[in-house]
Amino acid sequence: MTRTAVVTGASSGIGRATACRLADEGYSVVAAARRRDRLEELAAEVPGIRPMALDVTSQESVDELAAALDRCDVLVNNAGGAIGMEPVARGDVADWRRMYEVNVLGTLRVTKALLPFLVASGDGVLVVLTSVAGLVPYEEGGGYVAAKHAQTSMTEVLRLELCGEPVRVVEVAPGMVHTEEFSLNRFRGDATAADLVYQGVPGPLTAGDVADAVTWCVTRPAHVNIDRLVIRPRAQAAQHKIHRV
Ligand SMILES: NC(=O)c1ccc[n+]([C@@H]2O[C@H](COP(=O)([O-])OP(=O)(O)OC[C@H]3O[C@@H](n4cnc5c(N)ncnc54)[C@H](OP(=O)(O)O)[C@@H]3O)[C@@H](O)[C@H]2O)c1
Repeated sequence: MTRTAVVTGASSGIGRATACRLADEGYSVVAAARRRDRLEELAAEVPGIRPMALDVTSQESVDELAAALDRCDVLVNNAGGAIGMEPVARGDVADWRRMYEVNVLGTLRVTKALLPFLVASGDGVLVVLTSVAGLVPYEEGGGYVAAKHAQTSMTEVLRLELCGEPVRVVEVAPGMVHTEEFSLNRFRGDATAADLVYQGVPGPLTAGDVADAVTWCVTRPAHVNIDRLVIRPRAQAAQHKIHRV
């Protein structure tokens, strides 16, 4: 029986690359995100990918995803992102709420809905794309740092709660990844500000690098749980230590 993987946020960046890598590995991949047109293009390009419209902030949409599945062996909770780079003193409540909704409650909704499939598979793998922002705070990252810390804690709690069940809980925490949209969304469409993030950095990670890491975690033998995989570019030794040329 072909194993099925569900990847949220598969219309761009890390999610898209992960959907492709898992399809290469022979998984039947459900690629889910809000922009269905992009997913349909992806499915037309890559055999083994099935597009599915999904808004992780909508319970109705998540319920529709669950109802459309007959199995799920791997769930990659990747949908997420950052909005804004203001200090906490000027933090926008609506932005913070939005980041919490997508990164934290989105992961909660999809996880709750698909967990019965993961358990039933007998060898389920649940992956959560957090961030090094979920481990180490940085100035002006407040709302994103808070949301990613919450997502990290939730992942740790889940691993404790599922001990004894046939489900592995894996956290993949990337550092700087140059994807097309992440920084653009963070800076509300300001391409100059978004480009500055990566300026002079020799070799930020690519979406494909992170997809490789996710795929490696997922394809370990069933008894091997990679609790947390932190992956950064060589040029980023720590949050505040970035080599630029
Ligand atoms: N890039 C980095 O430097 C970096 C570093 C560490 C961690 N991460 C994390 O890695 C994940 C992917 O980041 P990325 O760089 O690949 O960003 P990205 O290119 O902006 O991709 C984000 C994906 O999430 C989807 N998404 C957003 N809101 C959604 C919603 N409400 N429902 C369903 N899907 C939604 C987007 O698709 P639609 O708009 O079509 O819905 C998109 O496919 C995120 O969780 C991010 O926090 C990124």
